[in-house]
Amino acid sequence: MTELLKDLTPRQIVAELDQYIIGQHDAKRNVAIALRNRWRRMNSPADMQHEITPNNILMIGATGVGKTEIARRLAKIADAPFIKVEASKFTEVGYVGRDVESMVRDLVEQSVNMVRSAKKEAVQVRAQQLVEDAILDILIPSVKPVPNGQVGFENENKGDSDAELNERTRERFREKIRNGEMDDRKIDIDVQQSQTPNIGVMGGSVDDLSMMNIQEMIGNMMPKRGKKRKVTIAEARTILLEEEAAKLIDMDEVKEEAIRKAEDAGIIFIDEIDKVASARSGNGGGGPDVSREGVQRDLLPIVEGSAVNTKYGVIHTDHILFIAAGAFHVAKPSDLIPELQGRFPIRVELQSLSEDDFYHILKEPRNALTKQYVAMLEAEEVGLTFDDDALRELARIAFEVNGEVENIGARRLQTVLSHLMNDFMFDIPDVIGANAHVVVTKDLVNEKLNGLVKNRDLSQFIL
Ligand SMILES: Nc1ncnc2c1ncn2[C@@H]1O[C@H](COP(=O)(O)OP(=O)(O)OP(=O)(O)O)[C@@H](O)[C@H]1O
Ligand SMILES: [Mg+2]
Repeated sequence: MTELLKDLTPRQIVAELDQYIIGQHDAKRNVAIALRNRWRRMNSPADMQHEITPNNILMIGATGVGKTEIARRLAKIADAPFIKVEASKFTEVGYVGRDVESMVRDLVEQSVNMVRSAKKEAVQVRAQQLVEDAILDILIPSVKPVPNGQVGFENENKGDSDAELNERTRERFREKIRNGEMDDRKIDIDVQQSQTPNIGVMGGSVDDLSMMNIQEMIGNMMPKRGKKRKVTIAEARTILLEEEAAKLIDMDEVKEEAIRKAEDAGIIFIDEIDKVASARSGNGGGGPDVSREGVQRDLLPIVEGSAVNTKYGVIHTDHILFIAAGAFHVAKPSDLIPELQGRFPIRVELQSLSEDDFYHILKEPRNALTKQYVAMLEAEEVGLTFDDDALRELARIAFEVNGEVENIGARRLQTVLSHLMNDFMFDIPDVIGANAHVVVTKDLVNEKLNGLVKNRDLSQFIL
């Protein structure tokens, strides 16, 4: 059995998260514990394993402070299937819209993709060889060994030497194919095409699952047709590699493992959970509130643990880790129905980000925005550095605009920086060419942005 859960310790998990997310220590600690607890469960005595329930987490915090980012990174670290859904997008079963079970199906889909590509990776070398063989067969149709008897009086050894010669030629060509010398040469290949017609359902009350099943069924019924295509060897390699790798992996095994991976390691992130909680204050009990509560009731069995049908098989949701998040500006966590509250026992509050946090966010994460710009300009062979006081100034401006216009958290850094860099991105490489070096100074930041910040009407639209 391949390892489903990596055995990272809570401290290691936090250290990994620290490389991408500034601050939010409480949230990091708690997701780290939740993740480790799953490993603990998997490695606990068998009779207890099924008793241990996951520590679902409710993240509370304003927009753009890192809620989604933490969950997303967590899944990457854990190599876990991960999906993010918006609670507000769901509708109660029986109404038009997405039903909540679709999130579990999406998770399995994700898991299948992960397992399939891992398996493909594992058969890569073997598949590559098969592809080379296939291309060689097309390039030099092998001299078929002459059947015995028909050779008659011909020299017995002749067949042998033909075969040897053939083999030598093949090896020579194999070498050329391998080091790309023949990449541009065109050959004819057969490509498999399964034809799945697009079926539209009229007046449809068919849910996603049945729809998928119908699609797949009809796809399987249609004959797979081989179609000849003229392509370069380089293209052929990509196309054939896909086919050969697919032939080498056992899809039943993939499905089974994917289900298990989703069950034991899956993470479902339910965003905007506060949007389906309704402040009970003016309890009129009518209108939209009813259906919101309906969504919560539909969520309940999934979060509590139930069996969901997917096209890959039945999946039990008991040990999936659910992380719900919301700003809870209007509704409070206590406005969720009690059963659902009980299913998210761990509450973490994320802090609003300070000007100082912004400065660190600009500079430090592995995927920091400034690093992204440096990387993009590197592609143009243009150097880029940001002065430290320029970063401080950017952080100050972003913070100020958040205060004046609307607080969108760290997302503001993106708009501010993109406005700052806009002219450079346009002038490179035509005006500012290779080997130039751009230095972003505090003065430059002020020159490009201060006018905008002062003009509230403008900054509303631009920053
Ligand atoms: N603490 C942080 N450290 C580093 N980057 C952050 C942090 N908070 C937010 N960001 C950046 O801001 C972007 C938006 O953050 P994220 O998607 O996590 O917001 P959110 O809290 O989920 O907000 P929403 O409630 O609107 O969904 C992220 O892509 C990330 O780059
Ligand atoms: Mg989010």
